[in-house]
Amino acid sequence: MQIPALHPDTIEEVKRRVDICEVISDYVVLRKRGKDMIGLCPFHNEKTPSFTVSQEKQLYYCFGCLAAGNAITFLRNLEKRSFAEVVLDLAKRYQVPVQTLEPKQKQELQRQISIREQLYEVLAVTTQFYQHALQNSGGEALSYLKKQRQLEDTTIKQFALGYAPQGWETLYRYLVDTKRYPVALVEKAGLIKPRKQGSGYYDVFRDRVMVPIRDILGRTIAFGGRTLTDEQPKYLNSPETELFYKGKTLFALDQAKNAISQADRVVVVEGYFDAIALHQSGINDVVASLGTALSVEQIKLVLRYCDSKQLVLNFDADPAGMKATQRAIGAVADLAYKGEVQLKILNIPDGKDADEYLYTHSTEDYQKLLADAPLWIDWQIKEVIKDKDLKQVTDFQQASQKIVSLLKKIINKDTREYYVSYCAEILSLGEARLVPLRVENLLTQINSESSNQNWDNSSHQYPSSPTNNRNKYNNKFQYSYENSSRNRNTSKLVKETNARSLPEQAEALLLQIYLHHSEHRQIITNLLEERDLQFTFSHHRFLWRKIIESFENIQKEDIISTLQDKCCEYETEMSQISHLFHLNEKTQHEISKYIIQVVQTAIACMEKNLREKRYRHYLELWEQTDPEKEPEKYKSYCQAFYDEKNKLKELERQRQFSIVDLI
Ligand code: UTP
Ligand code: MN
Repeated sequence: MQIPALHPDTIEEVKRRVDICEVISDYVVLRKRGKDMIGLCPFHNEKTPSFTVSQEKQLYYCFGCLAAGNAITFLRNLEKRSFAEVVLDLAKRYQVPVQTLEPKQKQELQRQISIREQLYEVLAVTTQFYQHALQNSGGEALSYLKKQRQLEDTTIKQFALGYAPQGWETLYRYLVDTKRYPVALVEKAGLIKPRKQGSGYYDVFRDRVMVPIRDILGRTIAFGGRTLTDEQPKYLNSPETELFYKGKTLFALDQAKNAISQADRVVVVEGYFDAIALHQSGINDVVASLGTALSVEQIKLVLRYCDSKQLVLNFDADPAGMKATQRAIGAVADLAYKGEVQLKILNIPDGKDADEYLYTHSTEDYQKLLADAPLWIDWQIKEVIKDKDLKQVTDFQQASQKIVSLLKKIINKDTREYYVSYCAEILSLGEARLVPLRVENLLTQINSESSNQNWDNSSHQYPSSPTNNRNKYNNKFQYSYENSSRNRNTSKLVKETNARSLPEQAEALLLQIYLHHSEHRQIITNLLEERDLQFTFSHHRFLWRKIIESFENIQKEDIISTLQDKCCEYETEMSQISHLFHLNEKTQHEISKYIIQVVQTAIACMEKNLREKRYRHYLELWEQTDPEKEPEKYKSYCQAFYDEKNKLKELERQRQFSIVDLI
């Protein structure tokens, strides 16, 4: 949409009147925390809220992804709309008169911005028209809803259900002739279509029960119309329009969003009437997909309201529903394997859908089904072995292959181990003595297929949000470092290089290169100075100090014997470094082949160590700072922490590369 330049006064006035909390609340569930509001950031995926909104300053800031700005920035970034569009929308919402720089453009402008508004309006009027028709001329439709679908008046009202009368142009006449809406607009709203023969238009929905599909603010953006006869299709849906994108919309989200935050869970069903029936029976954290495959976008949209990311899919148990479930799992799988979504699958017994189930069962019965719903991975395993006779070789092989491909993607080690033994039992068909063998088999296959992705798995997983994992990570770093320094075995150092950690070996090699290959000394010194790096292990630092101290006084060739003399009184250190003064032929040969890799690896290890210290340092500062009292500081520590974290990730990649090269 081409919008003429806005008058600066208009922009200023919009900024003055807008309330950021109100604007953001349309998209994010905000809770009060101190002076500010806090919620789940809509700009990145997170489990614990780090998105803060300050009413006082009219600014938002995310500690997780560093998104920041005012109400206008928020809408621009979230909805990918232009500055002018957003300002105009806000002007409308806060009743700010719009002035453009050139008054004559004003009319055109208003026409353009109002198209969306007009679409909303015509759909709202249509919703009322259908509601009215249901009560007045929709006797059959009304009794269908009340008797067959067992809906109460309040439910019918809550979901604004209606009836599209018979006849080819009832709605057309009402909207165009009576209400004087432009034909083009009504067509754009997806309500009428031009006749194929002759001139004129006809109503899209005729003699159908009408279910308004509403956006998160409760505005009708489309309709689903169910036939009352055997006519096909059973459900007719509005075409996609400027307001309606199927892949981004979930039915009943406007009704469900509060319940979803409260229950900290969301149930996704297939049908409009499944959702409606569940809401009626008091289960309100329910939305419906729109008869299309559930998209990642839809999932992310709904999970915004749900801290612990519990998603239950309750699709039909018929073949089509099973397929839809598999497809939906496919869309969520990435998130689920990472543990970012807790996905459960509910198939109602006897292949019923939620709506049918509730005709003969109580709310509690359904609640129980929900509570007992298996995790998706269990569900998948069951699906794999469902029609298989595991005593048959081919069936067995197929099943175990499928199981391997399921299990190898589970990232959490404990979870994976659990499922390995679980599946091993299944595959052992009750013969306990077979279980260990099956376990080994599964493990071998899983590891052979996932070895490249699981390389040092733990070291590059950082907490997505620092708040809940801080201590754990602090401890972890401390643990791994203390551990590696404890590992050094002071008496058997020379022979058992394997007993030493890779970082230690890399540093030792670097020192050996320094001592025995004088031509590389300058480069090593430069690198260390340039990057302000220190050796990680205290005995290495000790040796390096001695090297620096004595360097001026010694001839290049003499360095080793000078150092040996200088160090001999330090018994403990000497026992840890003396092996560095000797270089057997084999090592000499190996080193000269891999000098560059050795240097790179050692440097990367040292740099990582430095970064980790800073990382912990900033984390500590960040934890100790009160966001209320020192917001600037708080923000800058947070920023510094994330900078270090990102560099650390990058380094970790480099380091793994070079270590792999080295071995
Ligand atoms: P189902 O065919 O599973 O029907 O469609 P249902 O919801 O159980 O239908 P009732 O109980 O007979 O009324 C599930 C969803 O798939 C979409 C609709 O969104 C429907 O709610 N659908 C289905 C269509 O869009 N078009 C169709 O023709 C059928
Ligand atoms: Mn049904």
